[in-house]
Amino acid sequence: MSAGRLRYAVIGIQGVGRHHIRAAREHPQVELTALVDVDKAAVSRQAAELGVQSFTDHHELLAAGLVDAVSIATPHWHLAPIGLDCLAAGLHILVEKPFATRLSDARAMNELAEQRGLQIGVAYQYRTFAPWPRLKAILDSGALGKVQQGVWRWAEFRPDAYFVESPWRATWQESGGGILINQISHDLDLLCWLLGPPVAVTARIVNQLHQAEIEDAVTATIAFAQGLQVAFQATINQPRAAGIRLLSGDQGLVVVGDALGRADAATELQLGLYDQPAAQAVRSLPGSHDQPGIRWQRVGGVTPRHRIRKLLGLKQLMDWSSRFRARRWDSGHPAIFAGFVQAALGQGQPLVSGREAERTVELINGIILSSFLGRWVDFPLDAQEYDALFDALRRGKQEVQRWR
Ligand SMILES: NC(=O)c1ccc[n+]([C@@H]2O[C@H](COP(=O)([O-])OP(=O)(O)OC[C@H]3O[C@@H](n4cnc5c(N)ncnc54)[C@H](O)[C@@H]3O)[C@@H](O)[C@H]2O)c1
Repeated sequence: MSAGRLRYAVIGIQGVGRHHIRAAREHPQVELTALVDVDKAAVSRQAAELGVQSFTDHHELLAAGLVDAVSIATPHWHLAPIGLDCLAAGLHILVEKPFATRLSDARAMNELAEQRGLQIGVAYQYRTFAPWPRLKAILDSGALGKVQQGVWRWAEFRPDAYFVESPWRATWQESGGGILINQISHDLDLLCWLLGPPVAVTARIVNQLHQAEIEDAVTATIAFAQGLQVAFQATINQPRAAGIRLLSGDQGLVVVGDALGRADAATELQLGLYDQPAAQAVRSLPGSHDQPGIRWQRVGGVTPRHRIRKLLGLKQLMDWSSRFRARRWDSGHPAIFAGFVQAALGQGQPLVSGREAERTVELINGIILSSFLGRWVDFPLDAQEYDALFDALRRGKQEVQRWR
């Protein structure tokens, strides 16, 4: 590594890896030197266009000694093995979500990184999108008082065609699960970030509609410290609508809703503050059905850019024109990338660390384990117990319950 500069490669280039390539080319402290992908034609073509080296196997990249850090954006079952190889070779790693499919792999990566003094960043970029930083600020301000209950619901349709297009997403072996590890790991990361580490979970996962072997719907109760319980539901069997995230505390509640499935509507929060704390009102209100008053306010909202896009239908044109605007590093993949680069250069921490991502993997594994055991599962999770279940799932010795 030359002073203040990282030599960089992206492993897995045809899907979300494109974001990493773009960020690596545009970041002033990064020099993109190589691309790696098992698709020889694709990687050779793109490397030639960009004037960098190409490899079809990450071991060749490591042997060439061309880089200080890598992005890993391959299908799920490659993330941890490639991550471990890169760490063993002394590289900092930026790993796509879910980081690993099993807690045991996530722990191994973090332990190796810590032994070697290397940085791990993970691409849970939803944390940077509205309304989540606003919700985090409200929680951190203590405005809700002691948070007691939550409802967290996500729904977005995925037809069988989704699994036909990317067959690796359909299997336990290659994807490590369905909706939990794939779509909703972002929301589980948000929950852990907002509320702290979970202490226990009870859940049921099912396959209601899909031919794929993995789960397509989940219902769980996730317990956090101090008795906080979140009712959690997610499905890929319902069109995008009726998403709701609600947290209520002793002094107020906050609601993020997108009842009509409009992605931009979910940028707004409704914050309701009680006229007296619930713990006080429960003793002081005289009538048997008296309610504490709630003062409602809107926080955030649809940005003018969203409004114009929606009204004029110019999304495509504006996306195209945004290529020619200066790169912003404060949101999405660019923010994750920039935070990771600073950390690898010894100037800070990644936005989402390997240990934080390990917590989300642990929650996902815990939800699946609870469903098969039919009872509450406590954290920290017994990683070996999950590994045994996962082994049975990938061999077809255990199956997700199907309701037809
Ligand atoms: N952060 C996000 O919002 C986000 C969005 C989409 C995907 N992802 C994650 O990114 C990862 C990749 O997903 P995708 O949708 O881009 O998948 P994809 O199948 O579209 O692309 C994966 C790429 O990796 C290559 N590849 C496969 N095995 C490889 C190996 N052993 N070595 C090198 N390259 C290999 C494939 O040829 C392909 O180019 C997954 O972990 C996924 O969950 C994250």
